Amino acid sequence: MDLKHSIDKNNVPRHVAIIMDGNGRWAKQQGEDRIFGHHEGVNSVREVVEACGEIGVKFLTLYAFSTENWNRPKEEVDALMELLVATISLETPNLNKKGVKLQVIGDILSLPPSCQAELQESINITAANSTVTLILALSYSSKWEITNAVKEIAKQVEEGTLKSQDITSKNIEKHLNTSAWPDPELMIRTSGEHRISNFLLWQLAYAEFYFTDTLWPDFRKQDFFKAILAYQNRERRFGKTSEQISQN
Ligand code: FPP
Repeated sequence: MDLKHSIDKNNVPRHVAIIMDGNGRWAKQQGEDRIFGHHEGVNSVREVVEACGEIGVKFLTLYAFSTENWNRPKEEVDALMELLVATISLETPNLNKKGVKLQVIGDILSLPPSCQAELQESINITAANSTVTLILALSYSSKWEITNAVKEIAKQVEEGTLKSQDITSKNIEKHLNTSAWPDPELMIRTSGEHRISNFLLWQLAYAEFYFTDTLWPDFRKQDFFKAILAYQNRERRFGKTSEQISQN
């Protein structure tokens, strides 16, 4: 049965964040090398982006490469960067056709120039789209992002344009890479790992977490819809009591 029909269209998260994990283990199970798993993972990305468009998820953030991933063997890092460039170049017309706007967060200047150029071109081409905003976290880590935000705020205090007593959480949010978008209501991690791995630590403060043993290259539309249904069965209390929530 197509799980899509069971989804309540009035309670779809606006923003979903995903830690796409398990490509390496999936490839090993097939007797292939790790990069084969990353290639297969692109098919899952395509399906999930499409699924977002179908049910009305407006923002999708994918953890595609963390700051810590730079420590992987050079061959894997190089292959991932090549895959990224090739995928973006190949997929941009398709993203455009589906009304997907591409955005990135992370230390983009640390990416190879070819990768930066390809990303910028796709960002420009898809800038006017509004069906889904696909946000790729690349060379991203939350501690890196928060450290930069603190530095920027400290500079404003030093220069006298901001008083320390006027620093609020709203003010901090303005200095995060994600300032243009709402926080994710749902975070999905595949492959049976139950960690947040330096991903959107601030932004996921009130997100629902969904963990599945499915490895990322096996994660398809129906798996995504299953995660959305699980989200819809959660009671989001934001620190209030269950009674307060049901009264509203
Ligand atoms: C984690 O699996 C996955 C990554 C570090 C890379 C994710 C990249 C893709 C899915 C392909 C490119 C994506 C886009 C958006 C074009 P892992 O290697 O840590 O797997 P393991 O835990 O089994 O070793």
